[in-house]
Amino acid sequence: MKVIIAENYEQMSALGADIIEKIVRENPECCLGLATGSSPVGMYKELARRCREEGLDFSKVCSVNLDEYAGLEPTHDQSYRYFMDDNLFNHINIDKANTYVAKGVGDVEENLREFNEVLSQREIAVQVLGVGPDGHLGFNEPNEKLYDKAHKEVLDESTIDANARFFASRDDVPRYALTMGMGDIMRAKKLLMIISGNKVDAATQLLIEDKISCSCPATFMKLHHDATVILTKELADKIGYKA
Ligand code: GLP
Repeated sequence: MKVIIAENYEQMSALGADIIEKIVRENPECCLGLATGSSPVGMYKELARRCREEGLDFSKVCSVNLDEYAGLEPTHDQSYRYFMDDNLFNHINIDKANTYVAKGVGDVEENLREFNEVLSQREIAVQVLGVGPDGHLGFNEPNEKLYDKAHKEVLDESTIDANARFFASRDDVPRYALTMGMGDIMRAKKLLMIISGNKVDAATQLLIEDKISCSCPATFMKLHHDATVILTKELADKIGYKA
């Protein structure tokens, strides 16, 4: 696993954008696996700037997102479809018809069938990942057993707490989500994890301890043959990690 310590959030975003840009320039028809959360927002902004000012071309790129809240319409401002449109797709020349975010409303089984079908048809060139405060990847919450494929997940109380800041009240945070499984994530050709903020416990388990555990799904990164983690110096210092 390659670990890069960035001076700050801006540098982390630019380094992440470099990795995505290289992949898109080498294969303009690639499929990007995308993520939500505050960590990749700066990287998406930088990719939009490169598209606008430097001709980075997304016109033939397709994408599939990690997860979506169950119960939120795509027009809801906290849905992940809305997030992706607002933070990336509306600012680059991607064809939105080629972007896939699982449906959060309607028949769950049917939505999962569709999600799994999309995943079986696309080879993800790079999967962008953040990490939840409890170590979740996408919405794969810590558990005794983890899923291979896309499924419905019951959100942990700590995840509901962490994400409550985006909703009018804690009660408004959805209790369920649809997420790629751990196997779907691991099948991506490359993994790119961007970690910012106070992810001390997950970052310690990932970068300091020599263990892989279902109680911290982020540690599965260590099993991938082409995984890169970019974290801020502030977080690296907090956990005592040195490159
Ligand atoms: C949500 C998403 C995760 C993301 C996490 C952390 O829970 N489902 O995929 O990694 O938020 O987000 P942030 O980058 O804001 O810390």
